[in-house]
Amino acid sequence: MPLFEAKGLAKRFGDQVVLQNVSLRVDEGQLAGIMGPNGAGKTTTFHLLTGRYKPDRGRVHFAGEDITGLAPREIARKGIARSFQAMNLFDADSALDNVLVALPAVRARGFDAWRDLGRDGAAQDAAAAVLARVGLKGKEHVSAKRLSYGDRRALEIGVALAAAPRLLFLDEPTAGLGADGTARLIELIQELKRRLTIVVIEHDMRFLFGLADRITVIHWGQVIAEGTPDALRSNEWVRRSNLGALQ
Ligand SMILES: Nc1ncnc2c1ncn2[C@@H]1O[C@H](COP(=O)(O)OP(=O)(O)OP(=O)(O)O)[C@@H](O)[C@H]1O
Ligand SMILES: [Mg+2]
Repeated sequence: MPLFEAKGLAKRFGDQVVLQNVSLRVDEGQLAGIMGPNGAGKTTTFHLLTGRYKPDRGRVHFAGEDITGLAPREIARKGIARSFQAMNLFDADSALDNVLVALPAVRARGFDAWRDLGRDGAAQDAAAAVLARVGLKGKEHVSAKRLSYGDRRALEIGVALAAAPRLLFLDEPTAGLGADGTARLIELIQELKRRLTIVVIEHDMRFLFGLADRITVIHWGQVIAEGTPDALRSNEWVRRSNLGALQ
């Protein structure tokens, strides 16, 4: 049984059909990739899967439970976390505080309580451990706005990991990263993959084909291909769109 399965998702905004009949399944421990051109509907798919938008049609199941149409908070509580394509950090706060406020123990006490909890040693240790996991050891007290771009992207993943999810959605994690940043991210994702199920939207095909167990290609709001990286290398759309990058 897959850990996560979406079937027949459809979404329109006004008279614009953005998604029609998108299905996706991910087995536990796997890394599923999503690729496709700009405007294909990839981020919208994430929004439907994580509760920001409700699908017009289709169902979403996680760990055997129907989670279709639940609010983002409820979906997060079930063990699903996501990073955003646009960065979503508290700029004035330290890296440690950004993770701290995302810890379930802190969230449960309400946002106002987080500064008090910040003095709580156990919460601080948990947040510091998350930062170490994403390669930000030693930068705990640097404010988010002073971090390099690559470190900010790592911190964003840290914020998502703070909730100890079973399933992590990443929307274009390599966007804006140079070769070094991408290499570091590959290492991080390989490490995370040992303990987490991951779904990643990515334009960088070398990255995606190197990491994914299976890849879904979305185009014009539909799934036009699905398979292992090896099977997809011969897919006509994949070949046309980025042949050079895969050789
Ligand atoms: N809230 C919204 N209202 C109206 N149209 C929307 C909304 N959100 C997305 N769209 C439209 O849906 C289409 C798909 O957008 P989406 O962001 O899902 O694409 P994408 O595949 O993630 O593209 P990119 O690779 O550029 O991130 C686009 O035409 C976009 O303009
Ligand atoms: Mg997008």
